[in-house]
Parts: sequence; structure tokens; C-alpha cells
Amino acid sequence: MFAHLLLLLLSFSSAFSPTSGHAPYAMRISCGARENVHTAPTNTLWYKDFAYTGGIPANATTPSFISPPLKTLRYFPLSEGPENCYIINRVPKGHYSVRVFFGLVNESSFDSEPLFDVSVEGTQIYSLSSGWSNSDNEQVFAEALVFLTDGSVSLCFHSTGHGDPAILSIEILQVDDKAYNFGPQLGQGIILRTARRVSCGAKQSKFGVDYSGNHWGGDRFWNSLPTFGQNSDHPLSVETSIKQASKSPNFYPEGLYQSALVSTDNQPDLEYTLDVDPNRNYSIWLHFAEIDQSVTGVGQRVFDILINGHIAFKDVDIVKMSGDLYSALVLNTTVAVDGRTLTITMHPTKGNHAIVSAIEVFEILLAESKTLLNEVRALQKLKSGLGLPLRFGWNGDPCVPQQHPWSGADCLFDSSSRKWVIDGLGLDNQGLRGFLPNDISQLRHLQSINLSGNRIHGVIPPSLGSIAGLEILDLSYNSFNGSIPESLGLLTSLRKLSLNGNSLSGRVPSALGGRLLHRASFNFTDNAGLCGIPGLRTCGPHLSVGAKIGIALGGCVALLVLVICSICWCKRRENILRAQRISAAREAPYAKARTHFARDVQMGRFHGHDNARTAAENGPSLLS
Ligand SMILES: *[C@@H]1O[C@H](CO)[C@@H](O)[C@H](O)[C@H]1NC(C)=O
Ligand SMILES: *[C@@H]1O[C@H](CO)[C@@H](O)[C@H](O)[C@H]1NC(C)=O
Ligand SMILES: *[C@@H]1O[C@H](CO)[C@@H](O)[C@H](O)[C@H]1NC(C)=O
Ligand SMILES: *[C@@H]1O[C@H](CO)[C@@H](O)[C@H](O)[C@H]1NC(C)=O
Ligand SMILES: *[C@@H]1O[C@H](CO)[C@@H](O)[C@H](O)[C@H]1NC(C)=O
Ligand SMILES: *[C@@H]1O[C@H](CO)[C@@H](O)[C@H](O)[C@H]1NC(C)=O
Ligand SMILES: *[C@@H]1O[C@H](CO)[C@@H](O)[C@H](O)[C@H]1NC(C)=O
Repeated sequence: MFAHLLLLLLSFSSAFSPTSGHAPYAMRISCGARENVHTAPTNTLWYKDFAYTGGIPANATTPSFISPPLKTLRYFPLSEGPENCYIINRVPKGHYSVRVFFGLVNESSFDSEPLFDVSVEGTQIYSLSSGWSNSDNEQVFAEALVFLTDGSVSLCFHSTGHGDPAILSIEILQVDDKAYNFGPQLGQGIILRTARRVSCGAKQSKFGVDYSGNHWGGDRFWNSLPTFGQNSDHPLSVETSIKQASKSPNFYPEGLYQSALVSTDNQPDLEYTLDVDPNRNYSIWLHFAEIDQSVTGVGQRVFDILINGHIAFKDVDIVKMSGDLYSALVLNTTVAVDGRTLTITMHPTKGNHAIVSAIEVFEILLAESKTLLNEVRALQKLKSGLGLPLRFGWNGDPCVPQQHPWSGADCLFDSSSRKWVIDGLGLDNQGLRGFLPNDISQLRHLQSINLSGNRIHGVIPPSLGSIAGLEILDLSYNSFNGSIPESLGLLTSLRKLSLNGNSLSGRVPSALGGRLLHRASFNFTDNAGLCGIPGLRTCGPHLSVGAKIGIALGGCVALLVLVICSICWCKRRENILRAQRISAAREAPYAKARTHFARDVQMGRFHGHDNARTAAENGPSLLS
């Protein structure tokens, strides 16, 4: 509750531009923590765990010294489904650095490192590779720059069958809208995944905060790179203050430019090689400052920058371009890489040595289109209505990342709305015991539904008749009862309808029976009492509930009358017999007189009414 209030305050206070002097929005979560945590050295606040879709809190082993010093994590066993997420709401619209640190469960039964995939807003940004927990610092987290526009952010972890995803921390840190503006494409549809960020010649790997960097930089982690290769260079570092550092929109810390690697006489080129995924586009950011005392002015150090052998920048003169000695220069370029390596070369053309302070490499990802919101909501209603087992997961987006769609839902890209839609549901033989909610009709693009072989009960939702394109509807071998909705007759595309093996009763809608006979295959057998088409029994007269009650009441009245009549008849017959027995002994007027008396009473009551008289005259005849 309190955390939520804080969240609200945070989202208000951070909806300002950096120039207004307000702090950027920052949400940090210590996964698995029951209380908020503050960590040294900057007294950073980590909120206690919230916004997760499932999983189990546990004690953590932090795999690297750069992992935040947190004691807990949350892991997601496969029994809770292949995808689990954190969905954080009330995030102001903006540009964010999103970072996830991975952890290891501190229990002997979790002996191997888990391998899994990470997605942000439906776009896969990272795939853990084996050895991540015991190799270099950069592999213990995933990070990406993403535009968030709909007030929330979803981070999902996708199982790949190698252990349970385990998450130590989540950070959602606002950066400038123009941060890493590599060109006109930067915007909502683009995600920049951090592939590498190195600080050349730095003595230590560090976060931006430790450099007292501006927080609008998103607390970047700079991995120290002591050398590009043996004897090829030497590190340089100074204390001199650097001009033009820590500027909008990227706010690079001054400290970044106070160290550098400089090439040596025996190897004038500086060459940095990075393993990358092939056939991707990369955005490369290079940082320079002339901090070498041997260079005192323009024209003394000039070099070309080549990327995979092609010249990206020609005749770079740091002093000239930055305007001074000890002044920061940032260059960026975008390259398409078709091989598996990316090589950045600084090749001197004037003076013998090249110099570089830092290198950042981002993979440019196109953000995936999500699934139509209405359809996501309908699937969530289905999930709870049908009582989908936990193992299905069904968290995050149904169709993206495309590498990890929900099982049981078939996706189709709708080019008109540029969203994913659901065109098939295949949940046959899954032991479902719930009911089929009416909301299924919100899945307007369904062509095929197979729910065969479950124990789904209740009525067939009449709304199914509004899914115009439905071709296959297999609800066989369930416990559906009630009658088949008339609306199914509206499904003109229906080719296959299997309702066999249920408890359905009543008349098969004539539209189905008539029309479908010719074009479609259908099966209504093995139900409680369907009728009305060839092969099934013929139906009785179609009666409303009122009519049925009427008939039942009428029956009761008739029975009552019959009982009364037979009692009276028996009585009368008894009297006559007795009278006969008495008159056999002597003259006995008693019985006859009584008969006449009864008749007189009837006559008197209906006196003057012809119809009544007829009835009255019939009355005694009933008795006799
Ligand atoms: C985590 O460790 C603490 C001691 O540091 C222990 O009391 C607690 O039971 C552990 N929790 C789990 C889930 O193992
Ligand atoms: C794991 O937990 C045990 C106690 O349960 C603790 O002694 C040990 O330091 C923990 N290991 C790590 C790496 O945190
Ligand atoms: C990055 O480079 C492009 C041209 O390639 C340029 O338009 C853009 O301004 C540069 N971005 C920054 C922040 O320097
Ligand atoms: C790389 O960028 C080019 C030009 O913008 C584009 O045509 C291509 O589709 C991109 N490739 C990938 C893999 O994103
Ligand atoms: C639905 O699933 C069942 C069981 O897996 C299968 O036998 C049946 O052929 C499927 N129905 C259709 C229409 O494909
Ligand atoms: C269907 O079965 C449920 C019990 O599962 C019952 O409550 C309901 O009245 C039945 N509906 C019809 C129309 O028979
Ligand atoms: C219809 O379903 C019954 C079982 O309920 C099955 O025996 C029969 O073969 C099915 N008919 C067709 C035409 O598929």
C-alpha cells in the first residue's frame, strides 16, 4: 500500500524534463525481498518484491561483484509455466534504461546455472549463454533502452528448458528522450540492446553513479578494458578535469574521459574485436579526449576509424573536433554486420599513435508489435474460466516475443491493425474442468477451436455464433449441457462441428441441421437428448416452460377429479347394493329418496341458466 503511494508520488514527480532539475523516474526492485532494501555506497533504494506473475522467493547467491548486493531473488519453476513476468504499472511515458540482473538460488539442489530468454515489452532482448555466472562481468545482466508509452512495462523471462529463470533485481531508469539518438529512426519502434560498454584503460569496472554521473544517464556500468591486446597499447589516466563531459542527452561521466588506451610504436592501430550475432544492425558510440601530454594542439594526432574494414570516420582530430585539449568528443555510427565479429580499428594517419577512451556497442532491435489488447483480455478471461493449469503460464503477451508464444493459442499478424490476433485455440485433452466464458467471442479472428477431451461444463456460449470466420468447432467429449444455441446457425463458414460426447439436449438448430448437412461434417451423437435432424430422434412438440407447467398442472387436476369420481362411484355403488340388500328383506324407500335429493340440490343451484342446466343435467349423469 505504502509502496504504491510512493510509486504514485514518484510518477508525478518525474513527469518533467531533465532541464526542470527534477530527478528522473527510477524504479528498482529487489526480487524476492519482503522489505525495502537500501544498498551502499549510494544508499540506493530497492523496493520490496512486487508486480510479478508468479514464482518463488529464495535466498540468492550473487554471481558477480557488480551484481547489486541483494540477498534474495525470485525464481520461476517450469511447473508455473514457460513464461513469467514482472508487469510494472504507473510508469510515466518516456525513454528508459531497463536492466535485469540474474541470480543463482543459494540451495544445493540448484547446482547449475539456468539459461533462459529475457524480453521487454514483448521484444526478446537477451538469451543467457552457458558460463554466464562464471565469466566476465557483463553477462550477469541484460539491459536495453526502450520507449515506454502506455504507462506500464512488462519484463518476461522465458524458459528454454535449462533450469528455472532466477532474477535478482529489476531497474527501470528514465533517461533523456534523445539519449543515444543514433539517427532519425530512434523512437518507439526501436530498442537498443546493450551489447558492450567498455572504459578503456580504467583501473576498475564501475557504475556511472560511482563516477558521480548524472542520473539521467541511467547508471550505466562501464567494464574496464585494461588493454586491446598484448604490447599493442598502454593505458593512460589523468586527474585533469574534462570539458564537455556530462552533457545532455547522454550525461557521460567526466571520469570516463580521464583514462584512455594509446597505441604503441610497434602496433600503431588500436583494434577492438567483439563477437556479435550475425545479420544485425549495431549502433556504435566512441569516446575520446586528448589527455596525452605529448599532444599539444590541432593536427598532431589524426586517425581514421574503420568498422569491419570500412572507413566510418575519416581524419578524426580530437582537439580540432572537440575544440580543445582535455575536452570530450563523442562519435556514433550505425553498421550492418553480416558476420559474427565486429572490429573497430583506429588507424593513425598523422602522428604515430591512436587513442580512445570508451566504446559502446548496441544492437538495434525493431520492437515487436503486440497482440490486440481486446484479444489479450479475452484470453485472460478464458484462462480463468477454463481453469487453465499453472503449467500453461499464459503471462505477458500471447504472440510475442515470436520465439515464445503461448501454447494453445495460434497467432496471426493482422497487417491492417499491425497487431497480432488469435486465429486458433487448441486446448484439446488438457484436463480442463471450468466453463467456456462468453468472452471467447472477443477473439474475433478465430477460425478454429478445439477443446475436445476435457471436462468443460455449463452451456455452449451463444456468443460463439458471432465469430464470423469460425470454420472448425470441436467441443466433443466434454460435459456441456443445455441446448445448442440457435446462434451457431449464423456461422456460415463452419466446416466441422463436433459436439458429440456431451450432455446436450433439445433441438439441433434448424439452420445447422438443414444447411450444414450438405457442406460440412458434424457430429451430434452421444449426447443426453438431442433431436430434430436425421439420425437423431424426432423432437416432441416444442413447448415453452409455461406450457410445460400448464400441462403438469392440468394433469394433476385431471387425476384429482378422477380420484374423487371413483370414490363417489364406489360410495354410490355401495349404497345401492346395501339398499338392494335391505329391500330384499322389506320395502326400503331410503336409498331412492336420497338420490332424488341430490338431484334437486343441483337443479336448484343452476336454476335459470340453460348452459348451467345442461351442465347440471350432465353432472348427475357423471355420477351415475
Ligand atoms: C534465507 O536465509 C536466511 C538466513 O540468512 C534463513 O533464515 C532463511 O530461512 C532462508 N530462506 C530460504 C527461503 O531459504
Ligand atoms: C548461502 O547460504 C548459506 C546459508 O544458508 C550462507 O552461509 C552462504 O554464505 C550463502 N552463500 C552465498 C554465496 O551467498
Ligand atoms: C549520431 O550520429 C548521427 C549521424 O550519423 C547524428 O545525426 C546524431 O546527431 C549523432 N548523435 C549524437 C547524440 O551525437
Ligand atoms: C538494418 O538496417 C537496414 C537499413 O536501415 C535495414 O534495411 C535492415 O532491415 C536492418 N537489418 C536488421 C536485421 O534490422
Ligand atoms: C481436436 O483434438 C482431438 C484430440 O486431440 C482430435 O482427435 C480432433 O481431431 C481435433 N479436432 C479437429 C477438428 O481437428
Ligand atoms: C447444466 O449443469 C449444471 C450443473 O453442472 C446445472 O446447474 C445446470 O442447471 C445445467 N443446465 C441445463 C440447461 O441443464
Ligand atoms: C461421432 O462421434 C461418435 C462418438 O461420440 C463416433 O463413434 C462416431 O464415429 C462419430 N461420427 C463421425 C461421422 O465422426
